[in-house]
Amino acid sequence: MANTDVQAAGVADRDLIVRLAFGSMAAQTLRAAVRLRVVELVGDTPRRAADVAVDAGAEPQPMTRLLRALTGLGLLREHAPDTFSVTPAGALLDPGRPDSLTSFVRMFTEPAIVRAWEHLDGSIRTGEVAFDAVFGTDFFSHLAQHPKLSADFNAAMSQAVSETAAALPYAFDFDRFTTVTDVGGGDGTLLAGVLAAHQGLTGAVFDTAQGLAEAPKTMARHGLKERCSLIAGDFFRSVPEGSDLYMMKSILHDWTDDQAVTILSHCRKVLPPGGLVLIVEPVLPEVVDTSAEADVTDGGVTYLSDLNMLVNLGGRERTRRDFEEVCHRAGLSLISVTPLTDAAPFSLIEAVAG
Ligand SMILES: C[S@@+](CC[C@H](N)C(=O)[O-])C[C@H]1O[C@@H](n2cnc3c(N)ncnc32)[C@H](O)[C@@H]1O
Repeated sequence: MANTDVQAAGVADRDLIVRLAFGSMAAQTLRAAVRLRVVELVGDTPRRAADVAVDAGAEPQPMTRLLRALTGLGLLREHAPDTFSVTPAGALLDPGRPDSLTSFVRMFTEPAIVRAWEHLDGSIRTGEVAFDAVFGTDFFSHLAQHPKLSADFNAAMSQAVSETAAALPYAFDFDRFTTVTDVGGGDGTLLAGVLAAHQGLTGAVFDTAQGLAEAPKTMARHGLKERCSLIAGDFFRSVPEGSDLYMMKSILHDWTDDQAVTILSHCRKVLPPGGLVLIVEPVLPEVVDTSAEADVTDGGVTYLSDLNMLVNLGGRERTRRDFEEVCHRAGLSLISVTPLTDAAPFSLIEAVAG
């Protein structure tokens, strides 16, 4: 752009760029807070940084600096010099809460997720999955080789899905079905929410052995062992028969269109007459909607998730037209898309045979 054409940029525009450039530092500050258990140690009533440092086994002055940075990010409040308490947002980093996001923060700031992002420009140039080159294998194989990381991933997914697990049971008519399989259902948090709210339903969580590792505990905790089976397998080979509803949340976005078609085709093969495939994912608009009312842009998170799929997995977030296309190629017809308003940015995408 020639100098004479330079658009006017205000202070706010400059601030935006600076803030975005510091974004990875904010993420690592969150990570340090979680690793040092800062939120548990600070608590709801004002506490001195030096005392927090002692309990965390840290140096007082660097701890003060961390607590001030967290205050700047809106997670703590500084009442008097060096005296802090936790804000409602910061409280979500307490691992003891049912709505805690600590495992989510750990996973999404973890080298296994972050390192491939250094090669985002390369992935944009070539379309290749940076993760595979950096780690020498694909993401889920890497998890299979690292049980601790796999457990962290499962815990992060469980925390991420909890909002949907609270909303979905009341946003869809589950009572017209008898048995639901959650394809790639992980630790079973979502299906447990559905079964707990719909006593007439039975269910199955279908996932890899590593994905299912925590599922027995989830079902036992919810008293659902009798109504839910756990089936280990590979959705690129087959999906178990026996359900009239096949649900999948945050599955197709992990994969390329061809792979998504394979997974959906396996669902199509076992879908009985009157059966339904329920996909729970964000649905991107055809044009990015940055209006204030548009939940879908989600502060840009869904588009960042789209890039995350590119660098780490090879998948993508999709528009309605993209979902129609992959469903059609799998012998399914997309019949409706309904925003899941209590768990934005997710939508319920229904598809039937045909
Ligand atoms: C992004 S997580 C979503 C988990 C869960 N549906 C949720 O929304 O929290 C993707 C899930 O797909 C599972 N998965 C990956 N590859 C699989 C395969 N080949 N067969 C079955 N499950 C697989 C993973 O183990 C993981 O639980």
